[in-house]
Amino acid sequence: MPRKIEIFDTTLRDGEQTPGVSLNVQEKLEIARQLVKLSVDVIEAGFPIASNGDFKAVKTIAENVKGPVIAGLARANFPDIDRAAEAVKAAERPRIHTFIASSPIHMKYKLKMTEDQVLEAAVAAVKRAKSYVEDVEFSAEDASRSDMEFLCRLYSAAINAGATVINVPDTVGYTTPKEFGRLIETLMVRIPEIDKVKVSIHCHDDLGMAVANSLEAVACGATQIECAVNGLGERAGNASLEEVVMAIDTRKDFYQVEHNIDTKQIYRTSKMISTLTGIFIQPNKAIVGANAFAHEAGIHQHGVLEQKSTYEIMMPQSIGLTTNTLVLGKHSGRHAFAERLKEMGYDLSQNELNKAFGRFKDLADKKKEISDRDIEAIVEDQVIKLPQHIELEYFQVSTGNKSIATATVRVKIKDEIIEEAATGDGPIDSVYKALERACNINCKLVDYSIRSVSGGKDALGEVIVKVEKNGRIYIGRGLSTNIVEASVLAYTNAMNKTLWNNGYSNQ
Ligand code: KIV
Ligand code: ZN
Repeated sequence: MPRKIEIFDTTLRDGEQTPGVSLNVQEKLEIARQLVKLSVDVIEAGFPIASNGDFKAVKTIAENVKGPVIAGLARANFPDIDRAAEAVKAAERPRIHTFIASSPIHMKYKLKMTEDQVLEAAVAAVKRAKSYVEDVEFSAEDASRSDMEFLCRLYSAAINAGATVINVPDTVGYTTPKEFGRLIETLMVRIPEIDKVKVSIHCHDDLGMAVANSLEAVACGATQIECAVNGLGERAGNASLEEVVMAIDTRKDFYQVEHNIDTKQIYRTSKMISTLTGIFIQPNKAIVGANAFAHEAGIHQHGVLEQKSTYEIMMPQSIGLTTNTLVLGKHSGRHAFAERLKEMGYDLSQNELNKAFGRFKDLADKKKEISDRDIEAIVEDQVIKLPQHIELEYFQVSTGNKSIATATVRVKIKDEIIEEAATGDGPIDSVYKALERACNINCKLVDYSIRSVSGGKDALGEVIVKVEKNGRIYIGRGLSTNIVEASVLAYTNAMNKTLWNNGYSNQ
């Protein structure tokens, strides 16, 4: 009977530590709901002591999301654990995940603690967590650079104190597959109590080996993989969920393990997270990159036409990627549109469907052929809509290579109509200045990116902006066949988000 591997998703915790990523409570809740559809076993929803926003997000997810285990992270001290316990307490299956560093370098310079002090703190932390919840995970941070003797003693003590999962992180992405595999095998042999618990791994990608290290650990006996969608995470990120899952799925013959993931939800999940985090996926990214199933060389195309398995080791459909050559257009009706959405794995309410259909029709007036990528962009754009304090009524920009760009905008804020104008260095600069004036919001644009959703001159343009206000980053997205309009919508969306404090209106 194949071993069951549990997928512990840390997109909302380690993934949110990706530089430049900041999600509000609604966005985190929406992602958690999608992770349920993906059928992950554990959702690490956040680090409750880190901020009030993190606490609220973990609590909201614990209260509303059923199915997977909901974990909250805590350092090995009582205030952290008490806060995590409070946040996860309403979960159907709560877990507290507590950690302390175990490597000589971390103990000496960061913790300024001896091995015995670390061991004592770990045991106390696990016992404290156990007084709140049955399911307690213990991580020895920087395990891969720790002394083996001490690591065994530490995990053994944590298990005896009540840990149900022990996690072995390669915190700095330093290990190699062979070395990490040996580490797992050694722990399996040297910790007498290890068969009472799940053995988890958590690999970072600093040397590009996170997925390989995770897979080798599985081959050597690990039963839980910690990973993040699109490989998000601290620095170079965590092992990518879609890569580890598709590797054990495609190479069942080799790994001989099972997982619970509904792989058909992978593409949709990846897309949603890319949209909400504002982090584009590189085209050549394994599994979910735009080129992952594209064949360029004639010889490859010929092979695939004859027999797909010549160059395709996975079917695009297995990750939920539709490859419809039949495009929709302005004569397509609601029924065809709804059917296509269903085929693409979307399950929209009547209200959401009406909205999406309205936008589809508007787009069809401007764009001859509407592809699945366009439809997906429309639907993702309406996933989360915070109340719009600022509504864009109108904008106009005049620009040229020999003239100063001038913009006028009109917005509605709480029933008041405000019009402002500004000049700037190009259409975007001028219209953004006019918007800032009209909305009386002082924020800093820290990133602006634009890409086309599909091909052709009439393609939908997607603009992602990141703005900073009071030290926080807000991500805005705009979609239109007119790229200046997409830019204005993205900035308005980001400004609306600045008017919210982690999903709770402060206006
Ligand atoms: O990388 C790491 O060590 C972590 C721990 C908190 C598990 O993220
Ligand atoms: Zn980590």
